[in-house]
Amino acid sequence: MSERKVILVTGGSGLVGQGIKAVIEKEEKRSDEEWIFTSSKDADLTDKESTKAMFDKYKPTHVIHLAAMVGGLFKNLKYNLDFFRMNMTINDNVLCTSYETGVKKVVSCLSTCIFPDDTTYPIDEEMVHNGPPHSSNFGYAYAKRMIDVQNKAYHQQHGCHFTSVIPTNVYGPHDNFCIEDGHVLPGLMHKVYKAQKDNSEFVIWGTGSPLRQFIYSLDLGRLFVWVMREYPEIDPIILSVGEEDEVSIKDAAQMVIDGMDFTGPVVHDTSKADGQFKKTASNVKLRKYLPDFKFTPMKDAVRETCQWFKANYETARK
Ligand SMILES: NC(=O)c1ccc[n+]([C@@H]2O[C@H](COP(=O)([O-])OP(=O)(O)OC[C@H]3O[C@@H](n4cnc5c(N)ncnc54)[C@H](OP(=O)(O)O)[C@@H]3O)[C@@H](O)[C@H]2O)c1
Repeated sequence: MSERKVILVTGGSGLVGQGIKAVIEKEEKRSDEEWIFTSSKDADLTDKESTKAMFDKYKPTHVIHLAAMVGGLFKNLKYNLDFFRMNMTINDNVLCTSYETGVKKVVSCLSTCIFPDDTTYPIDEEMVHNGPPHSSNFGYAYAKRMIDVQNKAYHQQHGCHFTSVIPTNVYGPHDNFCIEDGHVLPGLMHKVYKAQKDNSEFVIWGTGSPLRQFIYSLDLGRLFVWVMREYPEIDPIILSVGEEDEVSIKDAAQMVIDGMDFTGPVVHDTSKADGQFKKTASNVKLRKYLPDFKFTPMKDAVRETCQWFKANYETARK
């Protein structure tokens, strides 16, 4: 019989953590695994003593580390120092406590928005440190990149199996649906919801032409579970749909319109900035490991998320 695993998820109350939780509860339960989903109520991970107390309480053998200070463009621009210091401290506390308490494997979460600004496409795992990140979020980006530096150093010096994954834009239930400072898809969902309620027009900011790769939080959850159980490397792995599944913001907005059953007028406000035209990431490495993994069709996943938002409007983050 295999040894019993206690898998502690930091940031377990957030969008990504709840995606993993849904997958574990519905599809992937194993009798030799105990999963513990924690939030800032369990520990303030910027505090080493608090972090240590949580590890002492749950005694994890494995850790999925998601907790982070996260935010949209505006928040990043304003608080680069806070993003850097908070995330460096959280990551250092979680990795160091994992090492000190003998955790066997840690999977941390990077992001495709930490890659060099001046780059060739598609982006792949080898390029993480190849130049400065976009100036808008350098605090967040450098703190995330240091996770990869720490993983390599913990492995080299202590033989630890600490690794990381790099998801593209995540969406799904439990997202932050704030219009001003949230991510693009949940923001669009909230705007359509309001337009529907107020009988007004739905305004899409920008031209709608930029391209993005979106990943449904439940698909990401399934991939996280696989990485935790099977992925053997220290080097990061990009978790993304393929380059061919990149969609324009305009197409994504149409999926939201359909998912919300919105029938009112739609207009583009082209005076608003478009942002980067594309950030295409390669999922070749993922496909080498999992050639048959099936991503949920985006229009189905968008509809599910829209329905969740409608049903949970009062309590959703917005
Ligand atoms: N969303 C995306 O599109 C995306 C894309 C790529 C990578 N990621 C990465 O995925 C991870 C999870 O992101 P998410 O979108 O799920 O974020 P989220 O929904 O905002 O959740 C953040 C989580 O971190 C916890 N947390 C924050 N500060 C903490 C602290 N000081 N101590 C303990 N817990 C703390 C929060 O706990 P409370 O609920 O108690 O506040 C929450 O569980 C992050 O590392 C992020 O960088 C996200």
